[in-house]
Amino acid sequence: MKALGLMSGTSLDGIDCAILDTDGEAIHAFGPTATYPYDETVRHRVRGVFGATERSTDTDAAEAAVTDAHVDAIGRFVSDHAVDLARIDAIGFHGQTITHQPDRRFTWQLGAAQRLADAIGRPVVADFRLADVAAGGQGAPLVPVFHRALCATLPKPLAVLNIGGVANVTWIGEGGTLVGFDTGPGNAPLDDWVHRHTGERYDTDGRLALAGVPSRAFRDEFLREPYFVKAAPKSLDRNAFDLALSDNFSLADGAATLAHCVADAVAAARVHFPARAESWIVCGGGARNPAIMAALRAALDTPVRSADELGWNGDAIEAQAFAFLAVRHLLGLPITWPGTTGAPRAMGGGKLYRPAGGQ
Ligand SMILES: Nc1ncnc2c1ncn2[C@@H]1O[C@H](COP(=O)(O)OP(=O)(O)O)[C@@H](O)[C@H]1O
Ligand SMILES: [Mg+2]
Repeated sequence: MKALGLMSGTSLDGIDCAILDTDGEAIHAFGPTATYPYDETVRHRVRGVFGATERSTDTDAAEAAVTDAHVDAIGRFVSDHAVDLARIDAIGFHGQTITHQPDRRFTWQLGAAQRLADAIGRPVVADFRLADVAAGGQGAPLVPVFHRALCATLPKPLAVLNIGGVANVTWIGEGGTLVGFDTGPGNAPLDDWVHRHTGERYDTDGRLALAGVPSRAFRDEFLREPYFVKAAPKSLDRNAFDLALSDNFSLADGAATLAHCVADAVAAARVHFPARAESWIVCGGGARNPAIMAALRAALDTPVRSADELGWNGDAIEAQAFAFLAVRHLLGLPITWPGTTGAPRAMGGGKLYRPAGGQ
């Protein structure tokens, strides 16, 4: 099957699109990939409803903006890459997470899947996290099964780390055993810090963080968070940690400190692996930040490579994962397991929305 995956993470950078040919187990071919940045108005609307737990005119407006942005992104993707929509079996639509509170059996991804299906005229699979969370799982991470497909021929055990707004890891054992969980903050606190002080959306190429000196005291305090010793599976809301730095920090030292916190949390995650990971592969936007990559290499005593070094497109992996998961949904295959989300058993997930007027 051929599917189009869509991912818009909590970094609010935009919408990643990717096409994947797969039978839901193996990857047959990678298709085109692209990212379409959110408009500042979409970002503003979504940022304004982060943490919401009830519908309001604000969440409705944010949802409409998110859906429109996806319709728009698909339109551009299809024309930029000459995609024949008629050959797309399904669209895997993650939606925009605004609130993630699995311990209260609540997670909320904005996005009107039926409207997307009607606008595009292809079946859409969405609501990937709901059944898992309703059953008592974390509803996250969902990418581990796709990471396993990507790593099919690589030596195990290995760890795949995705650094988005939040960071999550997939540990893959010999025989394909999966363990997945959120390690801690990803880019979000660093983005927020840089945005507050400079108006820029992130620390481009880690320039600020590389110029600063990380605070040992702040990192030690951060590592005392009970989350790090909590047993996996576990997952985090974008704003789960209070990483507000005092005004005593210079811009660069604050950036350096937050970049190191990402790596410290990843190092702390290793105690939850069934066996040592022999190597690490890093994907997501955090892999583009050399300060985070350097901090990871310093914190982990094993080789650390970026997904791009392996010939993958590290920015597209999550979108590819949702194409993969849409196909697994169509085939009735599970998408979460006790080891990846804490689901009570291997579980299917996602809901199919057929476009009005057939197919
Ligand atoms: N050139 C770069 N230098 C530093 N950081 C970058 C760069 N490119 C992307 N990033 C980081 O990656 C983030 C986007 O990562 P992404 O994986 O899309 O996260 P999400 O899944 O939350 O959308 C940006 O907000 C930024 O922090
Ligand atoms: Mg993104």
